[in-house]
Amino acid sequence: MIKIKIESHASDKANVHALFFVKKSVQFSSVLSPEGEEQVENVLTEIEKGISDDLDIMVIDGHATIFVNAAKERGISSLDHLRMAGYRLGLRVQKKQFKMVKLLLADAADEQFKAILHGLYYSDYSFEKYKSKPKKTVEPIYEIEAQDRAKDFEKIAHEVAIEQECLGLCKDLINTPGSDLTPEEFIHVAIRESHRAPDVSIKIRNDKQLAREGFNGLLTVGKGSRYSPYLVTLSYTPKHAAKDKHLAIVGKGLTFDTGGISLKPAKGMNEMQSDMSGAAAALAAICAAARLKLPIRITAILCLAENRIGSKAVLPGDIFKAKNGKTVMVDNTDAEGRLVLSDGLAEAGLVNATHIIDLATLTGAMVRALGYAITGFFANDDQLAKDIIIAGNASSEKFWPMPLEDEYADELKDKFADLTNCGKSSGAILAALFLREFIPNGVKWAHWDIAGTAYVTKPWKYTAYGATGIGVQTLIELARKLGGEEP
Ligand code: BES
Ligand code: ZN
Ligand code: ZN
Repeated sequence: MIKIKIESHASDKANVHALFFVKKSVQFSSVLSPEGEEQVENVLTEIEKGISDDLDIMVIDGHATIFVNAAKERGISSLDHLRMAGYRLGLRVQKKQFKMVKLLLADAADEQFKAILHGLYYSDYSFEKYKSKPKKTVEPIYEIEAQDRAKDFEKIAHEVAIEQECLGLCKDLINTPGSDLTPEEFIHVAIRESHRAPDVSIKIRNDKQLAREGFNGLLTVGKGSRYSPYLVTLSYTPKHAAKDKHLAIVGKGLTFDTGGISLKPAKGMNEMQSDMSGAAAALAAICAAARLKLPIRITAILCLAENRIGSKAVLPGDIFKAKNGKTVMVDNTDAEGRLVLSDGLAEAGLVNATHIIDLATLTGAMVRALGYAITGFFANDDQLAKDIIIAGNASSEKFWPMPLEDEYADELKDKFADLTNCGKSSGAILAALFLREFIPNGVKWAHWDIAGTAYVTKPWKYTAYGATGIGVQTLIELARKLGGEEP
């Protein structure tokens, strides 16, 4: 783990391996040795003139001087440039095994400082649990020279550390293989984390309780598995909270999705260990919100199950009665996410949420539509849609609004049951329209289809292969906004 120390005084630059500073006027950052300051000033001037535009990381003075220019990145905001700069700096520091790095950031705006810190933390994440020889790492100390900004920076550093710790939890869960992170194991993690977060309580329903209460979506999907499905409800009830707002975060938590009897093809099926990314993000976000003491009531609802084949598995054509009384024909057992979410959304109604966000790796269609860099979302409320995009921008997560097109809703009608889980066009819109059938009246709702953005199969921005942790930071920003703080 990296260590962050905020200093109010200008400190002695001896024994420091690298210096890093941000200038107000430019969107990049640099690291230099005391001797190299003049040299780097020259490079900065060149970059400002656009001469050295293609510079990435430049070692100017042996191990002591590093120059970072993230400005060449396409399609990312200036704050994201700073995240990239922090990230690259962090990688460099690791590679060079620097122990002490000084950041001169008194000129940085709060959000710039925050972005750099996020980048540093991203560089520090790796998932090495399964490596027989984990990489050797030093624990670098980053001393931040903040001058009169020390108090503000302390607060930001504290918040970023919490967010990144919870993001790390989310990514670890997603990166853990399906046979190790079973529904059973997931609830143990949820219990452990709920105990660490202040004012958070947890309620868990197993298969017997689900059957007693009619949560048949989870039971239907979980039938083929040897593990019980679970509905986990975590409640964060702060002492001081906005009276009229209660945010429910509902996460799809398929610890593995084989497709069931409508079996998936073998190629790439291993990626379906990430089909619980929505639930992981929901757990991480509520823990972060509680530890950040955000003044808003939040309920996180995790819909945990494993979609397997076997003699007990649900058959195509089977019909079950969902928690809200509607009957559903399971046309395709691979469209299981919407079935488990029907229970999660019903639970959000039972706890009287005013706002519901559901996160789900729901459709291959969304992957094809928007790819790995943009999360498509659907909302039944314009203000909520705007807030999501703004919160996403503040978190370097891109969101794009998709239509809840009524014209397609007829495809959800079944001959025998009220609904089928899979119409002819089987797209992302239809999946969202299916979920809308389970939204309690009058509740503001948005569905985030994170199928493309939760897990990457090539390194992207500050993420290596695997989990991105998508959604966690935007959820935190959104909770801040709903609780009364502007993001
Ligand atoms: N978990 C998948 C969706 C998915 C695909 C997530 C690719 C991440 C990457 C989901 O359960 C699924 O299989 N959806 C089907 C639905 C179809 C059968 C209506 C799909 O999109 O193909
Ligand atoms: Zn599926
Ligand atoms: Zn799935």
